[in-house]
Amino acid sequence: MDRLEELRRRHAAAEEGGGEQRRARQHQEGKLSARERVDILLDENSFEELDKLVTHRCHDFGMDAQFIPGDGFVTGFGRIHGRLVYVFAQDFTVFGGSLSESNAQKICKVMDLALKMGAPVIGLNDSGGARIQEGVVSLAGYSDIFLRNTLSSGVVPQISAIMGPCAGGAVYSPAITDFVFMVEHTSYMFVTGPDVIKTVTHEDVTKETLGGSLTHNSVSGVGHFIAPSDAECCRMIRELVTYLPQNNREDPPRRPTADPATRMDAALDTLVPADPSLPYDIKDVIHRCVDDGQFFEVHEHYARNIVVGFAHFGGRSVGIVANQPAFLAGVLDINSSVKGARFVRFCDAFNIPIVTFEDVPGFLPGTAQEFGGIIRHGAKLLFAYAEATVPKITIITRKAYGGAYCVMGSKHLRTDINLAWPTAEIAVMGPEGAVNIVYRRELAAAGAEQESVRKQKTGEFRDRFANPFVAAERGYVDDVIEPHETRPRIIRALEMLENKVDTMPRKKHGNIPL
Ligand code: HXC
Repeated sequence: MDRLEELRRRHAAAEEGGGEQRRARQHQEGKLSARERVDILLDENSFEELDKLVTHRCHDFGMDAQFIPGDGFVTGFGRIHGRLVYVFAQDFTVFGGSLSESNAQKICKVMDLALKMGAPVIGLNDSGGARIQEGVVSLAGYSDIFLRNTLSSGVVPQISAIMGPCAGGAVYSPAITDFVFMVEHTSYMFVTGPDVIKTVTHEDVTKETLGGSLTHNSVSGVGHFIAPSDAECCRMIRELVTYLPQNNREDPPRRPTADPATRMDAALDTLVPADPSLPYDIKDVIHRCVDDGQFFEVHEHYARNIVVGFAHFGGRSVGIVANQPAFLAGVLDINSSVKGARFVRFCDAFNIPIVTFEDVPGFLPGTAQEFGGIIRHGAKLLFAYAEATVPKITIITRKAYGGAYCVMGSKHLRTDINLAWPTAEIAVMGPEGAVNIVYRRELAAAGAEQESVRKQKTGEFRDRFANPFVAAERGYVDDVIEPHETRPRIIRALEMLENKVDTMPRKKHGNIPL
């Protein structure tokens, strides 16, 4: 056969993948093919495929008869909004998207290029795991990928989309990456599946309950985003990367905005209820302050007592961390601490300033939290804030009590600009709890007058301590501002902090309490 003809045949076979029937099944299940996904993910005609002619090297179990060029993985590079990204996509129609020695090498090739060139890596996962016919060679391939995931962590952004099965040890590659997207109803992740669980623990559980998108986005915290379809998932990834730099040596790109930097919002002045026990939605505050009201929330369904995500202020990309009084009163617990800590560390690794909105009544009391290790997990958030050297700005909108005051980007953790609203209450604990401890004897002796003594002492305590002025007198907050001026104050602070340089003592790495 003529060489050109042979080349064309091989290209066509690579594009054909596992054949018409398997592709039709993929579509029937509501899933796109690997190539369709890559097309939607990347700018039009920007994809350059690598290793399209690679084949597997397995000669056992009848594999000799089944060589598909590309071996079921589509890898290469392209552009998102004109910026370079590397991509790999597993094609479930070829041996169930399973990982062979060859396509592990294909993935490693793009990961190595991404690290050298300093550009994000996006993995579209849809795979039955290790190629069973290849045995340990496939496991070696996974290990090679895990190593690169680890070495690339904090150097280039790594994004995983789970668009089908992702089982066994294969889950650990997405787990190391920075963001995990899952597609509703068609994706699942677990280390051991329902059958093994049934055998070992006699539990009955479906794939969806065990490792579906909602489970991982709301219960385990493994997933950061849920997308209703493959196409929407790709669109969401395209949006996420607009907030991120290409690598840890760059600043995030600026986004031009018509939203004035001087814009004030009078609604903020009345947003916090007069009664400190009443909730309000911190996302209202965020939307009113950021450019064009656009907030790209991360981990929306997990640990909703803390809100994290990306936005722009005056065109600058920032990471926002905010306690959510509308959910569990915004208390810090194990899950919210871990969620916040991981996000803060991502921002710090990638030069994204951190803006914190604080309204936190403290850490959640109870045996479940203490036995679960709130000491260790709460320390993660503290550690993450303390070690972060990016510009840090904290706005205390209401409560900043106890250890939670220290943790949430306090001045003492080298936060650059700390502002408080007049409604801020900064103290060791809430007035009610404080009075019960400090005036225990007086309350016991008051007899029938106990309630009026309690009320009087609580009022005194609130006036003396539960306000922002004691902290402002000491410089722990830099200013008490009117809520409506929050946006311009944050933008001016970010401008001032533009060339911030802060350092860490020389060390190999810290030992964050994992
Ligand atoms: C080779 C595989 C495969 C695999 C699926 N196929 N998984 N081929 N190695 N791991 C093939 C099937 O033979 C089938 O081929 C095609 O892919 C589609 O698979 P189906 O079973 O028909 O699809 P479905 O019913 O949708 O089920 C999907 C599935 C199931 C749940 C993923 O295939 C499955 O359980 N596969 C095995 C999963 C597994 O145990 N993997 C190893 C995990 S351990 P034909 O020719 O019929 O189309 C692991 C270790 C990682 O991965 C190590 C890291 C440390």
